Amino acid sequence: MAKPANGRTALVTGASRGIGRAIALGLAGDGFDIVLNDIERQRDELEAVAGEIARIGRRAIPLFADVGNRDQVRAMVATGLAQAGRIDVVVNNAGILIPNLVENLLEQEWDAVMDINAKGTFLVVQAVLPHMRERGYGRIVNIASIGGKHGAPEQAHYSASKAAVMGFTRVLAQEVGQFGITANCVCPGIIVTDMGRTNLSEQASIDKWVGITALRRLGQPEDVVGPACFLASDASAFVTGQSLNVCGGITLS
Ligand SMILES: NC(=O)c1ccc[n+]([C@@H]2O[C@H](COP(=O)([O-])OP(=O)(O)OC[C@H]3O[C@@H](n4cnc5c(N)ncnc54)[C@H](O)[C@@H]3O)[C@@H](O)[C@H]2O)c1
Repeated sequence: MAKPANGRTALVTGASRGIGRAIALGLAGDGFDIVLNDIERQRDELEAVAGEIARIGRRAIPLFADVGNRDQVRAMVATGLAQAGRIDVVVNNAGILIPNLVENLLEQEWDAVMDINAKGTFLVVQAVLPHMRERGYGRIVNIASIGGKHGAPEQAHYSASKAAVMGFTRVLAQEVGQFGITANCVCPGIIVTDMGRTNLSEQASIDKWVGITALRRLGQPEDVVGPACFLASDASAFVTGQSLNVCGGITLS
Protein backbone atom coordinates (compact mmCIF):
# COMPACT_ATOMS: atom_id res chain seq x y z
CA MET A 1 0.00 0.00 0.00
CA ALA A 2 1.12 3.51 -0.78
CA LYS A 3 1.70 5.88 2.13
CA PRO A 4 -1.00 8.54 2.66
CA ALA A 5 -0.24 11.59 0.54
CA ASN A 6 -0.91 14.14 3.29
CA GLY A 7 0.92 17.38 2.54
CA ARG A 8 1.03 16.69 -1.19
CA THR A 9 -1.00 18.47 -3.87
CA ALA A 10 -2.53 17.15 -7.09
CA LEU A 11 -3.81 19.22 -10.01
CA VAL A 12 -6.74 17.59 -11.82
CA THR A 13 -8.07 19.15 -15.04
CA GLY A 14 -11.68 18.81 -16.16
CA ALA A 15 -12.61 17.96 -12.58
CA SER A 16 -16.18 19.25 -12.38
CA ARG A 17 -17.85 15.97 -13.36
CA GLY A 18 -17.34 12.44 -14.65
CA ILE A 19 -13.93 10.77 -14.46
CA GLY A 20 -12.09 13.96 -13.39
CA ARG A 21 -14.43 14.52 -10.44
CA ALA A 22 -14.07 10.87 -9.36
CA ILE A 23 -10.25 11.01 -9.56
CA ALA A 24 -10.13 14.31 -7.65
CA LEU A 25 -12.26 12.82 -4.87
CA GLY A 26 -10.18 9.63 -4.90
CA LEU A 27 -6.92 11.55 -4.58
CA ALA A 28 -8.41 13.67 -1.79
CA GLY A 29 -9.36 10.41 -0.05
CA ASP A 30 -5.68 9.36 -0.35
CA GLY A 31 -4.65 12.57 1.44
CA PHE A 32 -3.89 14.98 -1.40
CA ASP A 33 -4.95 18.60 -1.41
CA ILE A 34 -6.44 19.28 -4.83
CA VAL A 35 -6.11 22.08 -7.36
CA LEU A 36 -9.30 21.59 -9.37
CA ASN A 37 -9.62 22.90 -12.90
CA ASP A 38 -12.44 23.28 -15.35
CA ILE A 39 -13.84 25.89 -17.72
CA GLU A 40 -15.81 28.86 -16.39
CA ARG A 41 -19.08 27.35 -17.69
CA GLN A 42 -18.69 24.58 -15.11
CA ARG A 43 -18.27 26.98 -12.16
CA ASP A 44 -21.19 25.68 -10.07
CA GLU A 45 -20.26 22.02 -10.60
CA LEU A 46 -16.55 22.63 -9.87
CA GLU A 47 -17.35 24.52 -6.68
CA ALA A 48 -19.62 21.66 -5.62
CA VAL A 49 -16.69 19.23 -6.05
CA ALA A 50 -14.49 21.61 -4.03
CA GLY A 51 -17.11 21.43 -1.27
CA GLU A 52 -17.03 17.62 -1.35
CA ILE A 53 -13.23 17.66 -1.01
CA ALA A 54 -13.39 20.10 1.89
CA ARG A 55 -15.81 17.72 3.64
CA ILE A 56 -13.21 14.94 3.27
CA GLY A 57 -10.91 17.28 5.20
CA ARG A 58 -8.58 18.25 2.37
CA ARG A 59 -7.93 21.63 0.81
CA ALA A 60 -9.56 22.32 -2.57
CA ILE A 61 -8.50 25.18 -4.84
CA PRO A 62 -10.88 25.56 -7.82
CA LEU A 63 -9.29 27.37 -10.78
CA PHE A 64 -10.90 28.11 -14.12
CA ALA A 65 -8.94 27.81 -17.36
CA ASP A 66 -9.30 26.43 -20.85
CA VAL A 67 -6.50 23.85 -21.02
CA GLY A 68 -6.12 24.56 -24.73
CA ASN A 69 -5.16 28.18 -24.02
CA ARG A 70 -1.49 28.67 -23.12
CA ASP A 71 -1.92 31.95 -21.23
CA GLN A 72 -4.81 30.61 -19.18
CA VAL A 73 -2.86 27.43 -18.36
CA ARG A 74 0.21 29.41 -17.28
CA ALA A 75 -1.93 31.63 -15.05
CA MET A 76 -3.71 28.60 -13.55
CA VAL A 77 -0.47 26.80 -12.70
CA ALA A 78 1.10 29.97 -11.25
CA THR A 79 -1.96 30.57 -9.06
CA GLY A 80 -2.14 26.91 -8.03
CA LEU A 81 1.53 26.94 -7.02
CA ALA A 82 1.15 30.25 -5.18
CA GLN A 83 -1.84 28.98 -3.22
CA ALA A 84 -0.87 25.34 -2.63
CA GLY A 85 2.90 25.84 -2.48
CA ARG A 86 3.57 22.69 -4.50
CA ILE A 87 2.18 20.43 -7.20
CA ASP A 88 3.28 16.81 -6.87
CA VAL A 89 0.80 15.23 -9.27
CA VAL A 90 -0.88 16.34 -12.48
CA VAL A 91 -3.84 14.45 -13.88
CA ASN A 92 -4.58 15.65 -17.41
CA ASN A 93 -8.19 14.60 -17.67
CA ALA A 94 -9.98 17.46 -19.49
CA GLY A 95 -11.26 16.25 -22.83
CA ILE A 96 -14.00 16.51 -25.42
CA LEU A 97 -15.57 14.23 -28.01
CA ILE A 98 -17.41 15.60 -31.06
CA PRO A 99 -18.55 12.60 -33.10
CA ASN A 100 -18.44 13.00 -36.88
CA LEU A 101 -17.44 10.93 -39.89
CA VAL A 102 -14.09 11.81 -41.43
CA GLU A 103 -15.88 12.70 -44.64
CA ASN A 104 -18.01 15.33 -42.89
CA LEU A 105 -15.55 16.45 -40.22
CA LEU A 106 -15.15 20.21 -39.97
CA GLU A 107 -11.72 21.72 -39.58
CA GLN A 108 -12.97 23.49 -36.42
CA GLU A 109 -14.06 20.13 -34.96
CA TRP A 110 -10.64 18.59 -35.64
CA ASP A 111 -8.92 21.65 -34.12
CA ALA A 112 -11.14 21.78 -31.01
CA VAL A 113 -10.54 18.11 -30.20
CA MET A 114 -6.80 18.38 -30.80
CA ASP A 115 -6.52 21.67 -28.87
CA ILE A 116 -8.16 20.35 -25.71
CA ASN A 117 -7.22 16.66 -25.69
CA ALA A 118 -3.68 16.77 -27.08
CA LYS A 119 -2.37 20.35 -26.88
CA GLY A 120 -4.04 20.86 -23.50
CA THR A 121 -2.08 17.94 -22.07
CA PHE A 122 1.18 19.35 -23.44
CA LEU A 123 0.48 22.89 -22.18
CA VAL A 124 -0.32 21.80 -18.63
CA VAL A 125 2.71 19.50 -18.47
CA GLN A 126 5.03 22.19 -19.82
CA ALA A 127 3.75 24.72 -17.29
CA VAL A 128 4.27 22.38 -14.31
CA LEU A 129 7.56 20.73 -15.33
CA PRO A 130 10.02 23.42 -14.09
CA HIS A 131 8.50 23.14 -10.60
CA MET A 132 8.58 19.33 -10.58
CA ARG A 133 12.11 19.29 -11.93
CA GLU A 134 13.30 21.74 -9.28
CA ARG A 135 11.84 19.53 -6.55
CA GLY A 136 13.05 16.31 -8.16
CA TYR A 137 9.63 14.69 -7.94
CA GLY A 138 6.48 14.40 -10.01
CA ARG A 139 3.72 12.09 -11.13
CA ILE A 140 2.06 12.90 -14.46
CA VAL A 141 -1.08 10.90 -15.25
CA ASN A 142 -2.60 11.54 -18.66
CA ILE A 143 -6.10 10.28 -19.35
CA ALA A 144 -5.95 8.88 -22.88
CA SER A 145 -8.44 6.24 -24.10
CA ILE A 146 -8.62 2.78 -25.59
CA GLY A 147 -10.06 4.84 -28.46
CA GLY A 148 -6.49 5.99 -29.10
CA LYS A 149 -5.42 2.38 -29.69
CA HIS A 150 -8.35 1.15 -31.76
CA GLY A 151 -11.13 3.73 -32.01
CA ALA A 152 -14.64 3.67 -33.40
CA PRO A 153 -16.40 5.21 -36.40
CA GLU A 154 -17.08 8.96 -36.07
CA GLN A 155 -14.15 9.29 -33.66
CA ALA A 156 -11.10 9.48 -35.95
CA HIS A 157 -10.06 12.90 -34.64
CA TYR A 158 -10.69 11.81 -31.03
CA SER A 159 -8.65 8.63 -31.63
CA ALA A 160 -5.84 10.70 -33.19
CA SER A 161 -5.83 13.08 -30.21
CA LYS A 162 -5.58 10.22 -27.71
CA ALA A 163 -2.88 8.44 -29.73
CA ALA A 164 -1.03 11.79 -29.63
CA VAL A 165 -1.35 11.86 -25.83
CA MET A 166 0.14 8.35 -25.60
CA GLY A 167 3.05 9.17 -27.94
CA PHE A 168 3.69 12.41 -26.06
CA THR A 169 3.70 10.52 -22.75
CA ARG A 170 6.16 7.87 -23.95
CA VAL A 171 8.71 10.51 -24.95
CA LEU A 172 8.01 12.71 -21.92
CA ALA A 173 8.78 9.73 -19.68
CA GLN A 174 12.20 9.39 -21.33
CA GLU A 175 12.96 13.10 -20.91
CA VAL A 176 11.93 13.54 -17.26
CA GLY A 177 12.72 10.19 -15.63
CA GLN A 178 16.17 11.44 -14.63
CA PHE A 179 14.47 14.14 -12.52
CA GLY A 180 12.36 11.74 -10.47
CA ILE A 181 9.25 12.37 -12.56
CA THR A 182 7.09 9.60 -13.99
CA ALA A 183 4.59 10.00 -16.84
CA ASN A 184 1.94 7.43 -17.67
CA CYS A 185 -1.45 7.16 -19.36
CA VAL A 186 -4.68 5.65 -18.20
CA CYS A 187 -6.82 4.43 -21.10
CA PRO A 188 -10.45 4.11 -20.04
CA GLY A 189 -12.94 2.01 -22.00
CA ILE A 190 -16.65 2.84 -22.04
CA ILE A 191 -17.33 4.79 -18.86
CA VAL A 192 -20.81 6.08 -18.02
CA THR A 193 -20.34 9.88 -17.98
CA ASP A 194 -21.73 12.76 -20.05
CA MET A 195 -19.08 11.93 -22.66
CA GLY A 196 -19.45 8.17 -22.36
CA ARG A 197 -23.18 8.43 -23.04
CA THR A 198 -22.26 9.59 -26.57
CA ASN A 199 -21.43 5.93 -27.23
CA LEU A 200 -24.53 4.67 -25.44
CA SER A 201 -27.49 6.48 -26.96
CA GLU A 202 -29.39 3.29 -27.85
CA GLN A 203 -29.91 0.00 -26.04
CA ALA A 204 -28.30 -1.76 -29.01
CA SER A 205 -25.09 0.24 -28.45
CA ILE A 206 -25.09 -0.57 -24.75
CA ASP A 207 -25.58 -4.27 -25.53
CA LYS A 208 -22.78 -4.16 -28.12
CA TRP A 209 -20.26 -2.61 -25.73
CA VAL A 210 -21.24 -4.86 -22.81
CA GLY A 211 -21.02 -7.87 -25.13
CA ILE A 212 -17.40 -7.15 -26.12
CA THR A 213 -16.30 -6.36 -22.55
CA ALA A 214 -14.77 -9.36 -20.75
CA LEU A 215 -16.30 -8.26 -17.44
CA ARG A 216 -19.71 -7.87 -19.15
CA ARG A 217 -20.56 -4.43 -17.81
CA LEU A 218 -20.04 -0.75 -18.55
CA GLY A 219 -17.46 1.19 -16.52
CA GLN A 220 -18.29 3.78 -13.88
CA PRO A 221 -16.08 6.83 -13.16
CA GLU A 222 -15.03 5.15 -9.90
CA ASP A 223 -13.51 2.27 -11.92
CA VAL A 224 -10.81 4.66 -13.17
CA VAL A 225 -9.92 5.99 -9.72
CA GLY A 226 -7.77 3.12 -8.38
CA PRO A 227 -5.49 2.90 -11.44
CA ALA A 228 -5.13 6.72 -11.59
CA CYS A 229 -4.37 6.94 -7.85
CA PHE A 230 -1.81 4.15 -8.20
CA LEU A 231 0.01 6.03 -10.97
CA ALA A 232 -0.17 9.20 -8.82
CA SER A 233 1.39 7.46 -5.82
CA ASP A 234 4.80 6.28 -4.69
CA ALA A 235 3.61 2.70 -5.23
CA SER A 236 4.20 3.27 -8.97
CA ALA A 237 7.75 4.66 -8.54
CA PHE A 238 9.23 2.24 -11.14
CA VAL A 239 6.38 2.57 -13.67
CA THR A 240 6.79 5.14 -16.42
CA GLY A 241 5.97 5.58 -20.10
CA GLN A 242 3.09 3.10 -19.85
CA SER A 243 -0.50 3.23 -21.09
CA LEU A 244 -2.77 1.20 -18.82
CA ASN A 245 -6.10 0.01 -20.22
CA VAL A 246 -8.95 0.39 -17.72
CA CYS A 247 -11.73 -0.99 -19.83
CA GLY A 248 -13.05 -4.19 -18.26
CA GLY A 249 -11.27 -6.16 -20.96
CA ILE A 250 -12.36 -4.65 -24.28
CA THR A 251 -8.79 -4.01 -25.40
CA LEU A 252 -6.38 -6.72 -24.30
CA SER A 253 -2.61 -6.29 -24.25
N1 LIG B 1 -16.32 8.40 -20.68
C1 LIG B 1 -15.63 7.58 -21.43
O1 LIG B 1 -16.16 6.57 -21.92
C2 LIG B 1 -14.16 7.84 -21.69
C3 LIG B 1 -13.43 6.83 -22.31
C4 LIG B 1 -12.08 7.02 -22.56
C5 LIG B 1 -11.47 8.20 -22.20
N2 LIG B 1 -12.19 9.19 -21.61
C6 LIG B 1 -11.49 10.42 -21.26
O2 LIG B 1 -11.66 10.70 -19.90
C7 LIG B 1 -11.59 12.11 -19.69
C8 LIG B 1 -12.81 12.56 -18.90
O3 LIG B 1 -13.96 12.28 -19.67
P1 LIG B 1 -15.43 12.11 -19.05
O4 LIG B 1 -15.98 10.89 -19.62
O5 LIG B 1 -15.41 12.31 -17.59
O6 LIG B 1 -16.16 13.33 -19.81
P2 LIG B 1 -17.02 14.56 -19.29
O7 LIG B 1 -17.48 15.24 -20.52
O8 LIG B 1 -18.02 14.12 -18.30
O9 LIG B 1 -15.93 15.45 -18.52
C9 LIG B 1 -14.94 16.17 -19.20
C10 LIG B 1 -14.59 17.38 -18.37
O10 LIG B 1 -13.59 18.15 -19.05
C11 LIG B 1 -13.98 19.52 -18.99
N3 LIG B 1 -13.40 20.28 -20.10
C12 LIG B 1 -13.78 20.26 -21.40
N4 LIG B 1 -13.06 21.14 -22.10
C13 LIG B 1 -12.20 21.71 -21.22
C14 LIG B 1 -11.19 22.69 -21.36
N5 LIG B 1 -10.93 23.26 -22.54
N6 LIG B 1 -10.48 23.06 -20.27
C15 LIG B 1 -10.75 22.50 -19.05
N7 LIG B 1 -11.70 21.57 -18.87
C16 LIG B 1 -12.40 21.18 -19.95
C17 LIG B 1 -15.50 19.47 -19.07
O11 LIG B 1 -16.09 20.70 -18.68
C18 LIG B 1 -15.81 18.31 -18.15
O12 LIG B 1 -15.87 18.69 -16.80
C19 LIG B 1 -11.49 12.73 -21.09
O13 LIG B 1 -10.15 13.03 -21.40
C20 LIG B 1 -12.01 11.64 -21.99
O14 LIG B 1 -11.51 11.76 -23.31
C21 LIG B 1 -13.53 9.03 -21.34
